[in-house]
Amino acid sequence: MAGRVCFSVTLRKWHGFLLLIILRLGLDTVEGVWPLPQSFLPWPERYPLKPQSFTFGYRRHLAAQHRCSVLDAAFKRYFSILFPDNPSGDEWVFTLTISLDRHDCEGYPSQDSSERYKLSVSAGQASLYAETVWGALRGLETFSQLVYQDDFGSYYINKTDIEDFPQFKYRGILLDTSRHYIPVQAILKTLDAMAYNKFNVFHWHIVDDPSFPYQSRTFPDLSSKGAFHPMTHIYTQSDVRRVISYARMRGIRVLPEFDSPGHTNSWGKGKPELLTPCYQGGSPSGTFGPVNPSLPSTYQFMASLFKEVASVFPDSHVHLGGDEVDFSCW
Ligand SMILES: *[C@@H]1O[C@H](CO)[C@@H](O)[C@H](O)[C@H]1NC(C)=O
Repeated sequence: MAGRVCFSVTLRKWHGFLLLIILRLGLDTVEGVWPLPQSFLPWPERYPLKPQSFTFGYRRHLAAQHRCSVLDAAFKRYFSILFPDNPSGDEWVFTLTISLDRHDCEGYPSQDSSERYKLSVSAGQASLYAETVWGALRGLETFSQLVYQDDFGSYYINKTDIEDFPQFKYRGILLDTSRHYIPVQAILKTLDAMAYNKFNVFHWHIVDDPSFPYQSRTFPDLSSKGAFHPMTHIYTQSDVRRVISYARMRGIRVLPEFDSPGHTNSWGKGKPELLTPCYQGGSPSGTFGPVNPSLPSTYQFMASLFKEVASVFPDSHVHLGGDEVDFSCW
């Protein structure tokens, strides 16, 4: 767990207000569960954990053909989070068993997904119960925060009973990748930090006035002419798929924002007739206002672009902006 970023907020439990960033520099106490679960009962009784004999398991009805790719990937991830060092020691079998109400591993998290979970730790075993795979991910995060090391590097977890659910369904972070291009790796790291803090919506403010880094299949000129750089400062279709899939594996929705009809300066570079030409004293001034509503081609363009956006981003919502439309050129 060393070096994981945690966001601290004013209120406890699952509030979505980002105030402070704290770097977790090491494992300290068993009290360090963040955000504070709805009900949290730690006991003064601790059990040793050994990486060599630690296993994740599915309840019998989830076994074999019902393995879940989201959870299998989470098991791998959390194993190295649980045991950053690998000191050897004697055998002590510990199994974390997961059971789910609804075995939907293929879909995407949505605003209606239950993230409720129950976690109970006792000698040699822990059981994690959740309604959905997304709740199971939250419970795995909590479990990883319960494990700590003593001064000699041995791992422990205390007897614990937790019941938890989020106070708010929408716990989001917005990144603006138009004013500053953010490399995909940095977006993925942000998604990691979000998962550690049980945030569940990545609001991707992907384009705006300064640049258009989204590489459209239908209108490739938008990024080749409107991005800060046509090759290095864009998000290709495969970049976008990677971000969406990385987020899904952590129970995070990706909600794209394509702000219009204002905030579209960069769109005009790859689609010149899209923006309203501004006039001064009866002749074009060379500057442009918001999207031009008087041309039929504008509506065809918008229909095609948003048809693509809706097919690329699986979330039920697209943020259309609509703010700060300057009417002076209309
Ligand atoms: C965990 O167990 C240890 C050993 O019994 C105890 O000293 C410690 O206070 C416990 N922590 C909590 C939060 O109960």
